[in-house]
Amino acid sequence: MTNYTFAVGPAVVYGAGAISELGGWLDKLAAKHPMIISDHALARAGVAERVQASLPHSQLWAGVDAEPSVDLVSSALQALREGEADAVVAVGGGSSIDTAKLACALATNGGRLLDYAADWSSLSRPGLPLVAVPTTVGSGSEMTRGAVFKDPVHHSKLVIVSDHLAPRAAVLDPTLLDTLPSTVTAATGSDALTQAIEGALSTGANAFTDAFHLQAVRAISWAMPRAVADSQDTEAMGAMQQAAAMVGAALAYSGVGAAHAAANTLGGAFPIPHGIACAVMLRPVLRMNASIVPDRFVPVAAALGIEGTSRRPPTQVAEAVVDKVGELLTSAQAAWRLRDFSVPWEELKRVAEEAHGHSDMSTNPRQPTVDEVLSLLQEAW
Ligand SMILES: [Fe+2]
Repeated sequence: MTNYTFAVGPAVVYGAGAISELGGWLDKLAAKHPMIISDHALARAGVAERVQASLPHSQLWAGVDAEPSVDLVSSALQALREGEADAVVAVGGGSSIDTAKLACALATNGGRLLDYAADWSSLSRPGLPLVAVPTTVGSGSEMTRGAVFKDPVHHSKLVIVSDHLAPRAAVLDPTLLDTLPSTVTAATGSDALTQAIEGALSTGANAFTDAFHLQAVRAISWAMPRAVADSQDTEAMGAMQQAAAMVGAALAYSGVGAAHAAANTLGGAFPIPHGIACAVMLRPVLRMNASIVPDRFVPVAAALGIEGTSRRPPTQVAEAVVDKVGELLTSAQAAWRLRDFSVPWEELKRVAEEAHGHSDMSTNPRQPTVDEVLSLLQEAW
């Protein structure tokens, strides 16, 4: 028996039209001057404005145009100061939500982002109150206490984890995702799927994280192909949204594994979206882990809808999981290769060395050698 601590994260407000409850949440937070932080694409698609329409007194800053960086967070912070914002509604994917978390924290704590990344405990005050409205189906950032940003010097990703970064509520409205491009649904859904399966196999898993991860796998396995095929399929999109939020709630407690160690390393060095990097690494990593913890694959197999799991030896069930995940990614148009994303073959060795030492590797069921990580990358290429 392993001892553990688990806390459920922000309040979840779910349903078609759930953004109509934003005003009530901001009243509860005593916000007089809320600001919406969102991105260019959502502003162009009119999604940010739809949220603003439900908050007549809010201001809109749609300046997120990339993954969070020191510069992007300072621009967001400047907007908060100029608008005298006293609360924030983050509308977008992981980039908008993480930018908002970091800007909210700097607004009340002052100081420099890089210093907080070096010492999380120095972030000592709650940030401006934040409500997250995710518009993708993968990052889970709406439920976490963490935020990721790019280190401008080393081109790697830095993370800050603090209770003071957590949103107060996550408002999940599947109708807001009705214009989500299918490639974004496929990529962010692959991130959620990878986090769910890696989390379920992780050495850090516990009964609560299993409950969230296995339910997420169950939902994603039927909903992802439908949500990719039709962004107006509210039932499927809503199932994906809830799965992503569950996975986000469990992430900090279970950790992930080798696919994320590789994906996060790849994402720091090459222009490959995180979810796509997860999708390409998932199968090779599962193949490696299948022989190490076959028993842990059995509940994952059941969640994926694989029948007869109790009648077959766990090693066979684990192999069936690898095949089923391949089928799922293919039917959700998420069967990418690394070579399609300007990742040169000659660079794989360097990626393998960095991924081998990545913190996400520590909860993988097997600690591979650098050469084994290189083989995984070559398989994904
Ligand atoms: Fe991820």
